[in-house]
Amino acid sequence: MTTSDALPSQPFPDAARDAVYQAIFSRRDVRSQFLPKTIPDDVLGRLLMAAHHAPSVGFMQPWNFLLIRSAETKARIQALFRKANDEARTQFKDERKDLYTRLKLEGILDAPINLCITCDRERTGQTVLGRTHMKEMDLYSTVCAVQNLWLAARAEGIGVGWVSIFHQHELKSALAIPENIVPIAYLCLGYVSEFLDRPELEKAGWLSRLPLEDLVFHDTWGQTGGEHDPLAETYETLRQQYGYA
Ligand SMILES: Cc1cc2nc3c(=O)[nH]c(=O)nc-3n(C[C@H](O)[C@H](O)[C@H](O)COP(=O)(O)O)c2cc1C
Repeated sequence: MTTSDALPSQPFPDAARDAVYQAIFSRRDVRSQFLPKTIPDDVLGRLLMAAHHAPSVGFMQPWNFLLIRSAETKARIQALFRKANDEARTQFKDERKDLYTRLKLEGILDAPINLCITCDRERTGQTVLGRTHMKEMDLYSTVCAVQNLWLAARAEGIGVGWVSIFHQHELKSALAIPENIVPIAYLCLGYVSEFLDRPELEKAGWLSRLPLEDLVFHDTWGQTGGEHDPLAETYETLRQQYGYA
């Protein structure tokens, strides 16, 4: 640390830098591996503080963190999920529908803590620096808070599962969320028996990770690096180093 009011600008030492990438590459959406072990308050406090240090448009900090521990509330929320999930299932046909039916898409009752992260769209009034033309920036800011928490949780050995299969008005009503507040993420948090090495949907054969080489364009839309992609070697090194990339 420095005694001035600025922070040092050099990269983190190797081990610390590696830890950041470890958290990123080994983070998982967890639904099936929760343990009933309590999350201590100091750990929970760190996760919430990590979320609160997310970037936000105009430094609006539009989030709230609604912690849910009550078994009764969790059961109510899970019933809402089940209903919505039955509706969601009907969009798929044949084998895809069978596969969808086998997927476990929430860990609401298994996770010791559920957490609803919300966005107050008028936290700092109608006029927000940086949101004049793109009104949805406050929603994106709240998603940044979710990701901060998700990564910090991975570093703490805590799994997080995001459940979005709800009717928003039903979720709001079950949690007494006021009309003007938007629920952004309903998360299940808990220690886990293991973190899967790949996304559960990938392991189940639902979809695979896309090659990054096909997603990065140079100068013009659609222009990939092709055979001589200058970044390809780095991607490959990471894939081998972390086994996840
Ligand atoms: C906005 C958002 C909503 C999601 N909703 C659900 C959900 O309702 N149920 C579920 O099982 N997973 C949900 N997920 C998790 C994704 O399925 C998961 O992130 C993806 O399959 C990649 O896996 P990974 O997070 O383990 O890398 C959601 C993720 C995001 C970012």
